[in-house]
Order: sequence, then structure tokens, then C-alpha cells
Amino acid sequence: MKSFPFFFKLEGVPCLVVGGGEGARHKANLLYKAGANVSLLAKNMHPSTEQFVRDTGIDHLSDSYQKEHLEGFRLVIAAEEDELNRNIAQNARDRGIFVNAVDMPEISDFYFPSIVDRNPITIAIGSGGSSPVLVRHTRAMLETWLPPKLGNLGKLVTSAKDKARQKFPDLDMRRRFWDRHLQGRAAELVYSDRLNEAQSLIDSELEDDEAGSETKLGEVYLVGAGPGDPDLLTFKALRLMQQADVVLYDRLVSPEILEMVRRESELIAVGKGRNIYSITQENINESLADLALQGKRVLRLKGGDPFIFGRGAEELEHLVERGVPFQVVPGITAASGCASYAGIPLTHRNHAQSVRFITGHRVGGELNFDWAEFVKEDQTLVFYMGLNGLEYICNKLLEVGLPSDAPIALVEKGTRSDQRVFVSDISNLPKIVRSAKAEAPTLIIVGSVVKLHDQLNWWGGKQTDA
Ligand SMILES: C[S@@+](CC[C@H](N)C(=O)[O-])C[C@H]1O[C@@H](n2cnc3c(N)ncnc32)[C@H](O)[C@@H]1O
Repeated sequence: MKSFPFFFKLEGVPCLVVGGGEGARHKANLLYKAGANVSLLAKNMHPSTEQFVRDTGIDHLSDSYQKEHLEGFRLVIAAEEDELNRNIAQNARDRGIFVNAVDMPEISDFYFPSIVDRNPITIAIGSGGSSPVLVRHTRAMLETWLPPKLGNLGKLVTSAKDKARQKFPDLDMRRRFWDRHLQGRAAELVYSDRLNEAQSLIDSELEDDEAGSETKLGEVYLVGAGPGDPDLLTFKALRLMQQADVVLYDRLVSPEILEMVRRESELIAVGKGRNIYSITQENINESLADLALQGKRVLRLKGGDPFIFGRGAEELEHLVERGVPFQVVPGITAASGCASYAGIPLTHRNHAQSVRFITGHRVGGELNFDWAEFVKEDQTLVFYMGLNGLEYICNKLLEVGLPSDAPIALVEKGTRSDQRVFVSDISNLPKIVRSAKAEAPTLIIVGSVVKLHDQLNWWGGKQTDA
């Protein structure tokens, strides 16, 4: 490490920026935002710098640089031509003033870091001036990874700091208290913009005699994991996956996604595939509540979106009955994922003005719909869980008047690297799918939008068009 990242208090500190260009303005702005007492020395200014000086009311000296200008300043930014910058840097150093020369790390005493600002949390990233582009990329990665409301969590901690110190004079106990809350329900309330509730929770814990114990109420996170491609997870899903104590996951959650769950968490498979009845929905409901009541952060991870053919609501109803707090994170449902990765838009001005999500799961061998409704023009039909009933579905649609050449697609293992797409018409698709031995999960899309697949198909997975 060639430079050390201090956090410097700049409030009221006299700083001089020499130069009137955009580089000078940028640095002056950073110093100004940190509360420094900024002066700008420049005979000529770029219009944006002029505007900045007007807007902020900082001191402006319209003069050519002389070393005497440095008197009284504690920090100097040289934002002029290289030769002049070298002079300024030397003069500043002779006077014991720290100097930064813009884009000249070799003559600078300090560098401006790239900043991720979640006030009061500030992250500074630097490469000692050697790789500004990599610094920018690193910052982008951190920006996406850190919750946008992290700063509010910092404010919550600040507001309860004194009380926590009184309650837990012992540093270790205090640390354990904050560890538990900064990755628990209080933090989640803050991230969901429910600051008052978070504040009350912390207050009541600090007033509670048992607050140091670990057996507090946990929480259930009902999270949609999307259709398979891990890149389709939401930021929030990933964050909760990283902090769960125990994970109950469905059969449809891909192994790559499970890989991203916190290493220390306990993984419990609760998939209820066709003809697998070992784990009932009631068992799952009970387990979720029991684990949360033991104080655990319980992640209920479901394929796609938990509120679309996911029985997520039933699980939540049970949690409500048992007084367990929860939150729901939507996921990309199979219809959106498969349609996008197969190049088949679900709606289109010239093809479909509406879309229906339909279950193809037959109870007692039948699907009790008003099938005639599905024959309307300008709509797209999406059948979930329809692989076994594919022939039945196509026959029903033919019976109620859909033409035998109506376009239809079946997407197998959509969004995954082994995705296959079968495109045909409703009279031929069942036999094509049968001979290709397609396997679940599959999604069926019916409607004229399917015709766009030829043109819009972009995904590199295996393609098997009829
Ligand atoms: C019980 S439903 C769950 C749906 C899920 N909640 C969602 O929003 O996608 C299961 C059905 O979703 C569909 N499905 C889920 N993931 C899929 C994938 N990657 N490719 C194709 N179909 C998928 C299949 O029709 C499967 O039978």
C-alpha cells in the first residue's frame, strides 16, 4: 500500500484551487461539499466554473498564480498546465502544504478517491493514481452491492449509540447487540423505509432486560429466485440470501443460485415435485414459523416469483397466524424469463394487447376453464406446468376454434444454459416435444407473438425449432 486512506475533517479548512477549467471545478466542488473553505484562483474560467462560483459564493481571485497566493492555505489543488502545476506543487511542499496536482499523481501528496456515499457511511476507493478506470469499475460494483438505504442504518445506530453504551458497558456485548440488529429485522425495516418501526424495535430491545440474549424473534424472507439464470436475481434477493441462517428451497431453484447463499446457512430442500408427496405444504408452513420463532433468519427461496403459481401467500397466511414477521421479494417469473430468453415478447402492438398466465396443472385429469375465452385475437396465452398436459391443452384449443396452424412455443429450462425452444403450431407441437423428450420445467406460449422468435431469438442456448 503506497498511500494510506485517511478520512480528513475538512470543515472550515482553507483550501486553494488554482485553475479555472472543469478539472478545477470538479475538485473545488468535492472540497466544497465536504465543508472546506474553498478559494479559486484563476484569471479565466470555463463557463461551468463561473456558474459554480456564482452558485456557491466561494472566494474567487482573478489573478495569475504567484507563490505568495499560497499563504494561509492548508491544502492546494493545482489544476493548471503541467509546468505550472509542477511549480505550484514545489512551492506548496516548500511551505509544508499538502498538494494535489490534477492527473499528475507523481507530484501529488494525496489523491482524490472515488467515493461511494451512503452518509454517514463513506467508502473511499483508490489505486494510488495508477488505474482510475479500475477504480471506477470497483465503485460501480460496490454501488450495486450496497443497499441504497445503508446510510439510514448508520443514522439509526448514531441515534441509539448512547443508550446502547449505557445498556451494554461491555464492548463485546455491545458488538453482539449491533451485529444481531444490523443484519436482522431492524436493518430490514430501515431498508424498506420503515424507519420509525426500526427505531421502536431498537428502543424496545434496549429497554428490555433480556436484550442481550440471542433468542429473539426471527424473520422469514419469502424470496423469488427467478427462472434459473443467477444474473436475474434482484439485489434484494441476493442480500437476503447472504444473511440467512437457514434456507428452505424449492426444486426449481437452480444449483448456481444455491451456490450464492451464505456458506454457513443450513440448506433444506422442500421441493414438492409431481408425484413427490413426502413434504406437505403444511410441513413447510410449520417449519418456516418454528424456525423464525427460534430467532432464525429464514429464507424461503422459490423459483420465479413467489406470488405467481408459487403458493407463497399460503405460507404467509400461516406466518400471520403465528405472529411471525416476514417480507416478500418478487422474482422474475418464468413467463418473463422464458419469453425474453426465447425472443418472444408477451405483448406487441401488432400481435397481442394482453397476456394470460394459466396453470396447466390438471386436477383429476381436467382443466376447468372457459376455453372459448382463450380464442380471442390479440392475446398471448402462457401455460405454466403444462408439459404433461400439452396434448390435452392443444386439443382443447383446437376444439374451441383456434386454427390448427396457430403458433405455439414450448420453452424447456428457460434462461438456463441448456434452454431449448420448440416452435411450431398447435397441431404439431405435441409430437415434436414428445420425440425430443423435453423435460420439466417447461413453459408454453401460444399466440401470434411466437412468430417473432425467428427474428428476435438472441440467447445462445440450444435451439430446436421445428
Ligand atoms: C409451481 S410453478 C412456479 C412458478 C414460479 N413461481 C414462477 O413465477 O415462475 C412451476 C412452473 O413454472 C414454470 N417454470 C419455472 N421455471 C421455469 C423455467 N426455467 N423454464 C420453463 N418453465 C419454468 C414451469 O411451467 C413449471 O412447471
